[in-house]
Amino acid sequence: RAPEITPNLAKIESSARSRLPKEAYNYAAGGAGLESTVKANREAFNHWRILPKMLHSVLPERNLSRKIFGRYIPAPIASLSNAESDVLAVMAPIGVQTLFHPTGERAMAKVFGEMGLPYTLSTASSTGFKDVATANGDGNPRWYQLYWPTVDGLTQSYLKSARENGYEVLVVTVDTWELAWRPRDLETGYFPFIQSIGTQIGLEDKYAHSQLGFDPLAEGATLEQRKLASLYHVVTTSRGVSPRWENLKKLRDWWGDGPIVLKGIQSPEDALLAVKFGMDGIIVSNHGGRQVDGAVGSLTCLPPIVDAVKGKLTIGFDGGIRCGADIFKALALGADFVQLGRPMLWGLAHDGEKGARHVLKSLLADFDLTVGLSGHQDLSTVDRTAVVCPP
Ligand code: FNR
Repeated sequence: RAPEITPNLAKIESSARSRLPKEAYNYAAGGAGLESTVKANREAFNHWRILPKMLHSVLPERNLSRKIFGRYIPAPIASLSNAESDVLAVMAPIGVQTLFHPTGERAMAKVFGEMGLPYTLSTASSTGFKDVATANGDGNPRWYQLYWPTVDGLTQSYLKSARENGYEVLVVTVDTWELAWRPRDLETGYFPFIQSIGTQIGLEDKYAHSQLGFDPLAEGATLEQRKLASLYHVVTTSRGVSPRWENLKKLRDWWGDGPIVLKGIQSPEDALLAVKFGMDGIIVSNHGGRQVDGAVGSLTCLPPIVDAVKGKLTIGFDGGIRCGADIFKALALGADFVQLGRPMLWGLAHDGEKGARHVLKSLLADFDLTVGLSGHQDLSTVDRTAVVCPP
């Protein structure tokens, strides 16, 4: 069936579902436990409502500019001329994207690169640092997400490859040092890491995590070398040992002056520790409800964290963003940027690169209209007075 061009993201998700193997769809759609936190992420958006303001001489061309980590990003929306849009929308790090379409990370990195928006490469990527950088394009903002191995040599190797290939911001995911109880994956027998072990026993080659392993294996490696590297990664990182705040100093030494962002912060106390330990940013996130089932909805965590640390850290947000109004609400509550997760995967599965581009542009156009129709010419007035939380 030819993919339908539709502004309806729910239809794009159901198209993705019909095209994907059951394991892949469930892996992406599912969460931990009873998936109560997946639901809480959406419910939190419904608690907050936008308070539109009228007759404020909003022009058809909005200015959505804001500088993130020292960099202006060109306008991502065709109808905006000369606007310096910021890093409002970042691709959330998502592993094994070739599961969703053969073009996987390459297509996604290309689409974000075209729009000048940051693409974050996951440690669990199915495509290597260099290939993703090439697809992303010279000079475009690229970030690297680290699942922090317990072996220092491996961590250093990842960081070196990331830097050499132009990844500018290090995103350290702190909520997934062990995988949660995920019933859908247990049922279908799917875990990407299990799949990577599976390469050892002859499962499909597409599951080989090409960027894992020490440098000589990461790029230009044969499939056999990659399989070994994948196994090595699993053995050395999946011991269920939680890293500690004090260890961050090592990452700082290895990464140098570049920005380091902790992804998966949910409490003001941890946000304050991130300041104390010299981090540049945090991403308020519960991993899309995939780790602690029963955890509070991600948007609910945002205001207290902003109150505790705003101004001291750059604050990103993800978890449940499905439309322009959601982006608006997160920014109004103090996020400097947001990350897009599952909707981008549905676009990719629906129609490869074209589908991913369509979803990204749709979300941004919807967001742009929401800003304008709510009475804002730019983001400076999109603050807490722009939303209400009815009792
Ligand atoms: C993720 N996420 C994730 N996070 C991360 O730091 N590294 C990773 O490799 C992955 N992989 C991954 C795979 C899949 C299939 C999903 C759905 C999610 C979490 C991701 O970055 C983000 O936090 C959530 O996706 C945000 O929630 P929503 O908006 O997708 O519901």
